[in-house]
Amino acid sequence: MSIISVIGGTGMLGAPVAKQLKADGYQVRIISRNSQKAKEQLGGDFEYRQADLQDVSSLRLALAGSDCVHINASGQSKKSYYQNHVVGTRNILAALQGQSLTAISMISTASAYPEYDDRWDNRYKLEAEALLKESGHPYLVFMPSWFMESLPLFQQKNKLIHIGPSTQPIHWLSAKDYAKTVSNALQDNSCRNLRMPIYGPEGITMKEAVNRYAKVAQLTVQTMPVWLAKTLGFILRDESLIDAADLMKHYDRIGEQAISHAVRTETKLDQWLGQVL
Ligand SMILES: NC(=O)c1ccc[n+]([C@@H]2O[C@H](COP(=O)([O-])OP(=O)(O)OC[C@H]3O[C@@H](n4cnc5c(N)ncnc54)[C@H](OP(=O)(O)O)[C@@H]3O)[C@@H](O)[C@H]2O)c1
Repeated sequence: MSIISVIGGTGMLGAPVAKQLKADGYQVRIISRNSQKAKEQLGGDFEYRQADLQDVSSLRLALAGSDCVHINASGQSKKSYYQNHVVGTRNILAALQGQSLTAISMISTASAYPEYDDRWDNRYKLEAEALLKESGHPYLVFMPSWFMESLPLFQQKNKLIHIGPSTQPIHWLSAKDYAKTVSNALQDNSCRNLRMPIYGPEGITMKEAVNRYAKVAQLTVQTMPVWLAKTLGFILRDESLIDAADLMKHYDRIGEQAISHAVRTETKLDQWLGQVL
């Protein structure tokens, strides 16, 4: 049985991938900074190894014997995003030196294109991707649009905060559909050395998606113009609010690229709302 290591396998998006890979017959190794906590979360069906993206020797021990590696890194700030994506990917590749892999894959985003590198998240995704390409390992870069699972993250107390206007349609997808796409692609040896945009079935604006989620979750929506979110962020010294406002502004400007070859997932927003709420 092939061993696949999932770095970030405890995450909101990494955990569904780990579960799908297990269901599809892989021996799945969860790489986490805290194996005990990871096991409490995910149970006994997985192998667990403790490692930190900032520590090559821990990664070397954790990844030894892997046939395949999937990276689901995140980052809470510009600095940690850089550390986890660029330095982390460099460290993973150093740790894998001398090992032969069937594939190494990473989660990127649907907006990771050089023309959008005014946003640091896109820039760091592209840098991490370049490292995979240079590594010589067969690679895969998944480029999902926005996840439906992000909608609850806009909740503050009993309100959903919508930073707008957000008029561009977004092809929302579910983490479960994403996980199936990742597993299918990793099992298919013809799916290598490529970037794979993944879009949900319908184009729905952020405003509409937030309103639909709020209605089902019985929450109220507070819309905040971008300028106000930024101003509040500066006053409160809240970097994540400033960044969220900048991201919404950026998305309103660029929208999603129309990609005819994008993988299309099936679950619609209303179906997902019916399943999770
Ligand atoms: N939300 C969206 O709509 C969307 C759309 C497209 C792409 N994405 C991408 O999805 C990613 C976020 O995924 P997520 O929501 O699953 O993130 P998450 O829930 O925050 O999980 C982050 C994972 O990273 C691991 N991690 C963090 N720092 C680490 C370190 N120093 N060493 C080892 N592991 C570390 C954590 O593992 P432990 O805590 O167990 O160590 C955890 O499993 C981002 O890269 C984002 O660009 C998101």
